[in-house]
Amino acid sequence: MTYNQVKGSAEYIFAQTRVRPKIAVILGSGLNPISAEIENATRIPYKNIPRWNSTTNPDHEGVLIIGTLDKIPVAVMSGRLHQYEGNSMQECAYPIAVFKAMGIEKIIITNAAGGINTDYKNGDFVLISDHIKFFNEGPLTGEDASVFGGNRFFDMSDTYSEYLRNRVAGAFEAENGKKLHQGVYAYMPGPQFETPAEIRMLRVLGADVVGMSTVPEVIMAAACNIKVLGISVVSNMAAGVENKKLSGADVNETCASIKEDFKALIHTAVRVLEEEK
Ligand code: HPA
Repeated sequence: MTYNQVKGSAEYIFAQTRVRPKIAVILGSGLNPISAEIENATRIPYKNIPRWNSTTNPDHEGVLIIGTLDKIPVAVMSGRLHQYEGNSMQECAYPIAVFKAMGIEKIIITNAAGGINTDYKNGDFVLISDHIKFFNEGPLTGEDASVFGGNRFFDMSDTYSEYLRNRVAGAFEAENGKKLHQGVYAYMPGPQFETPAEIRMLRVLGADVVGMSTVPEVIMAAACNIKVLGISVVSNMAAGVENKKLSGADVNETCASIKEDFKALIHTAVRVLEEEK
């Protein structure tokens, strides 16, 4: 990944639309219905964007939508890139470097995740407060640091901005009467779901939810000084928590069942982020 590639991708996107968003949204598995509410939308398939990998997961559309949500300019990734599709962590995080080159300042990163915390239940929303990543590979390894502004050693202590989390949680509860959890997201590369022993280990280590995405993008966003709001939808209780087999179909079914509340949360979150200068 080089800065020239990143710049080339950003220039290609800017040539398709006059809208210049400052906020980006990444929609996780089964969480794309909000994309139909983007107005003045320019839809750019990932496969057309230079150097930007395509999605292979059928639950991920693979389109960058630039338009407005409640009159606020946004760049929405309908579908994301995962390591389990054969992407490196760098490739998963590449769109975030492009967003930086486009002048994006804030990002909402969403996912479907397994619930580890037994206080959670299917369909709950969790604002991510922190993450755990074990694996050696990272999105910034061995890179030309100019891709992310030359910032190689940087702090991760408030990456999931506590201030933004509390603002969004407060606004969403006031408007929708629904409480949001706040919790720690553990990254596991998948594509198989975890074993019950892995889930017990993650619980001991302090994780509340587990998923196969988000962390590569968040690390790149932190390096780029882009403010992050992370949202997990508990699409299933993690392996071994309930006496039940996990399936991708159940993940999709839960995401479909909460789609109205999820859309409301994205509207609230975009508005709160827009208000924070
Ligand atoms: N584990 C990992 N990733 C997931 C899960 C899970 O249980 N549910 C949705 N994504």
